[in-house]
Amino acid sequence: MNAPAFLPLAPHLPSFEPGQVWLVGAGAGDPGLLTLLALHALQNADVIVHDALVSDEILALARPQARRAFVGKRGGHPSAHQDDITESLIELARQNLRVVRLKGGDPFVFGRGGEEAARLAEAGVFFRIVPGVTSGLAGLAYAGIPATTRGANRGVILATGHPCANDEESLDWARLAQTGLPIILYMAMKRLDIIVETMLNDGADPKTPVAIVEEATSPRQRTLVTTLGACREDAKAHGCAAPAIVAIGTIVNLREQLQDFLINAGARA
Ligand SMILES: C[S@@+](CC[C@H](N)C(=O)[O-])C[C@H]1O[C@@H](n2cnc3c(N)ncnc32)[C@H](O)[C@@H]1O
Repeated sequence: MNAPAFLPLAPHLPSFEPGQVWLVGAGAGDPGLLTLLALHALQNADVIVHDALVSDEILALARPQARRAFVGKRGGHPSAHQDDITESLIELARQNLRVVRLKGGDPFVFGRGGEEAARLAEAGVFFRIVPGVTSGLAGLAYAGIPATTRGANRGVILATGHPCANDEESLDWARLAQTGLPIILYMAMKRLDIIVETMLNDGADPKTPVAIVEEATSPRQRTLVTTLGACREDAKAHGCAAPAIVAIGTIVNLREQLQDFLINAGARA
């Protein structure tokens, strides 16, 4: 007898109970990077509270009756205040709704998922974390840049270029560069000049390879390969803009070898 063409997954997926909040990672952008659990959440939600980084293609996979609440930045308008978002999640859960809090990438990687989860716990609301494929890894992979390569690097640093509240110089860029580990930066485009300048002033090699991957995993993905010394000028010349991942280190070099045959490598800047 032939094996069934389709194995039903529903019995293996947890039940989404009314009154629960699921903090769901939508992945880096390509709907193909959604996890089965994320899709299950979208198809069972009563309400979806989502950010700007979640694409329309992904929202289109949700249960048609699900209400949508957009809480991201759009057209220069600021995003909803974090406390208001969290309070609205609690309020919706108390209305006995199945609430999906949908975030780009992974909710626990520069996604404020930890803060939201802590507040839900404090309020006595049951929640589930649904990890997503983070843009820092998926974006590089789509561009043909492995985060680690055996024999080349035994670790990577994931960092944000965005300063923490009340802490302008929260990261010691020079010390990070001195580790010799590749650095994968989120939210770095606004402060790229100052970050790079600090690294160079503190002795980083200007020939260190750099890649900037914009709108990674989407059909608009664009990759600029440059060096630490040239990346500020090159990024301006090519009009590089957020959302983008910046990779600094020799991990970038393998792209050259892979890109011509890598189907999802995207356009070169
Ligand atoms: C607030 S952080 C959210 C990160 C997200 N939680 C994750 O795991 O990917 C936003 C930053 O993530 C990066 N980012 C998210 N999606 C991206 C994409 N499709 N392409 C490039 N960078 C992306 C950018 O650096 C952007 O400024």
